[in-house]
Amino acid sequence: MIKIKVEDLRHKYPDGTQALNGVNIDVVEGEFLAILGANGSGKTTLLKHFNGLLKPAFGSVVLDNKKLNEFKPRDIFRKVGMVFQDPNDQLIAPTVEEDVAFGPTNLNLSYDEIMSRVNNALELVKMKEFAKKAIHALSYGQSKRICIAGILAMEPEILILDEPTSGLDPDGVKTIMKILNDLNKKKGITIILATNTVDLVPVLMDRVAIMDKGIIVQEGSPEKVFTDSRKLEGLKLELPQIAQLMEALRDKEKFPINSLPLTIGQARQELSHLINTEDNALLSPEYNVRSE
Ligand SMILES: Nc1ncnc2c1ncn2[C@@H]1O[C@H](COP(=O)(O)OP(=O)(O)OP(=O)(O)O)[C@@H](O)[C@H]1O
Ligand SMILES: [Mg+2]
Repeated sequence: MIKIKVEDLRHKYPDGTQALNGVNIDVVEGEFLAILGANGSGKTTLLKHFNGLLKPAFGSVVLDNKKLNEFKPRDIFRKVGMVFQDPNDQLIAPTVEEDVAFGPTNLNLSYDEIMSRVNNALELVKMKEFAKKAIHALSYGQSKRICIAGILAMEPEILILDEPTSGLDPDGVKTIMKILNDLNKKKGITIILATNTVDLVPVLMDRVAIMDKGIIVQEGSPEKVFTDSRKLEGLKLELPQIAQLMEALRDKEKFPINSLPLTIGQARQELSHLINTEDNALLSPEYNVRSE
């Protein structure tokens, strides 16, 4: 079922910048969609149209078969939760607990329901012991997790995240991606994530849309989108590291590689006739989050 339908969406900022130039995309219920694109390609501007923060001057955004501008803002916020690029734009209350409770409080829920949602959300992002901590005393990665918790406490049907892993260390990235994977695969939440880090995309996402100069220039499965490194280069993006490595092995070392693998598992399969080191840690299947 189509959850969000975007048709010929254009957006011009007051200073004249044409940030969106006719975007068309459908978001399917339950999918994990990545929006990729270089800085300034229009990702954030597009995301802000998904939850009505920006209104279409031209074109339309339809949510559950109803135009977004026919919804009351509150009904959009119930359905669509957005985690901003910068935690400072999102965290407002003095303590973690109060911040996560902010959204549910505005939904007029009972105190018990609010507290139960806050606890669940903090549990999901593994920050329960930080409930009483002052917001300003959190590390950057912790702040990012609290932003996600604040949105999860709203129990949205669609979760939109703008660069959720930027500025995180590798462990922080893994934690966030594991949380998002669980939310998508176990709870069925539709996730749209904007990023310019390609490495995680093939591991987790079902579909990728690449933006350039305010339009979607390529769209499809990671396998389909990440086949042409020169085309990606033109869009100021790179192949995922594993694919870069395999491409170098193919082109420089003449390894017999037919299709570029995007995950360690695929790489292992592709090279299975050359590799027999079963206990090589780098090739361990546990490095693949997505089941293949
Ligand atoms: N408030 C604004 N006023 C004017 N121009 C803006 C505004 N916000 C964004 N832009 C411009 O719109 C274009 C798209 O910006 P946007 O923030 O959507 O890109 P992005 O793909 O999210 O980039 P990044 O990867 O840097 O986050 C850019 O040229 C940017 O300069
Ligand atoms: Mg952005």
